[in-house]
Amino acid sequence: MTDAGLLIDSQGRVLRDLRVSITDRCNFRCLYCLPETEAAHNFYRGHWAHLPNPAPIVQQWVPRAHILSFEEIERFIRLAVSLGIQKVRLTGGEPLLRHDVENLVSRIARIPGLTDLAMTSNGFLFPQKARALRAAGLRRVSFSLDSLARDNFRKITGRDGLDEVLASINLAQELGLHPVKVNAVVIRGLNDHEIEALADFAHERSLCLRFIEFMPLDSARAWLKELVVPGREVLARLQARFDLQPVPADNPSSTAKRWAFPGGRGELGIIAPVSEPFCGHCNRIRLTADGKIRTCLFSVTEHDLRSRLRGTAADEEIAGWLKSVVWQKEARHHIGEPDFVPPPRSMSCIGG
Ligand code: 5AD
Ligand code: SF4
Repeated sequence: MTDAGLLIDSQGRVLRDLRVSITDRCNFRCLYCLPETEAAHNFYRGHWAHLPNPAPIVQQWVPRAHILSFEEIERFIRLAVSLGIQKVRLTGGEPLLRHDVENLVSRIARIPGLTDLAMTSNGFLFPQKARALRAAGLRRVSFSLDSLARDNFRKITGRDGLDEVLASINLAQELGLHPVKVNAVVIRGLNDHEIEALADFAHERSLCLRFIEFMPLDSARAWLKELVVPGREVLARLQARFDLQPVPADNPSSTAKRWAFPGGRGELGIIAPVSEPFCGHCNRIRLTADGKIRTCLFSVTEHDLRSRLRGTAADEEIAGWLKSVVWQKEARHHIGEPDFVPPPRSMSCIGG
């Protein structure tokens, strides 16, 4: 394939990774994403004297008619793969809330040229769908797990679902969805006391655990720099506990700095987008459930694919448009700088 057929931005980055949010709905209310519970309000109020009481709920659900159909999503992914996209990750919201999601997985799994198809889920509904997803061609799955203590899990996610998520992790391993990744967003004063326990759990179960810095992507805009636990602090604590060996990155666009646990049982990843940005190697674009292309997690503008898919545009025309959109991909984010403007939509709409 010549460069002319690829998605390239003005910084010379070649885009290979597409994240597709298939619904903005979620059955959890994570405090770092959709902080709409009393517990979330109380937590933030304790940290942020200016937070109105109660915190404003800025979340607006996307109208159903705007949600892309499976046919529309498949058409776009085929087109993106023809332009060099190799990896697709289905996200949400909670992707398993989308009716008949295994049908979508099987359509995507059949696309020639796609080398990796994964999903990020909160794990609550996974046991009901796991076998169908596996049979449909899903190869990998990531779950969110921010706490191993039932009460803290409920406080963070708004749902008493720890047992279900633990069962999902076991089941995914049994089904060979390897490696099973687990994401933990670390928030100071909320779950940072559980870092070692989470790492012990990953080591015992041979999981790939990734600690993620809290990013300003929550619907209430309650994010505060003081709540971010820098990745290097997490790493230092875990280096004091385990003899960690660095794992070389399999590709330069990888978001995580990786470490192997002793005995090769499981792996640790540190994802530090706030304290150590990796924008220079970013090869990702995102499609929202309502058909907008986002060239960065922190984009403040979106590009309207839906009207093109629903209009008369031929594939070639959409391909040309996509190349021009991708060219404008932001060089980097500006978190922590005076000019930083948080994106208008939360992680639940953008897709992780
Ligand atoms: N900061 C960091 N990570 C987040 N996620 C959701 N919201 C945030 C945030 N504000 C992560 C969750 C989930 C993935 C989709 O994105 O851990 O695993
Ligand atoms: Fe739902 Fe995921 Fe957001 Fe939690 S982080 S509220 S599980 S979309």
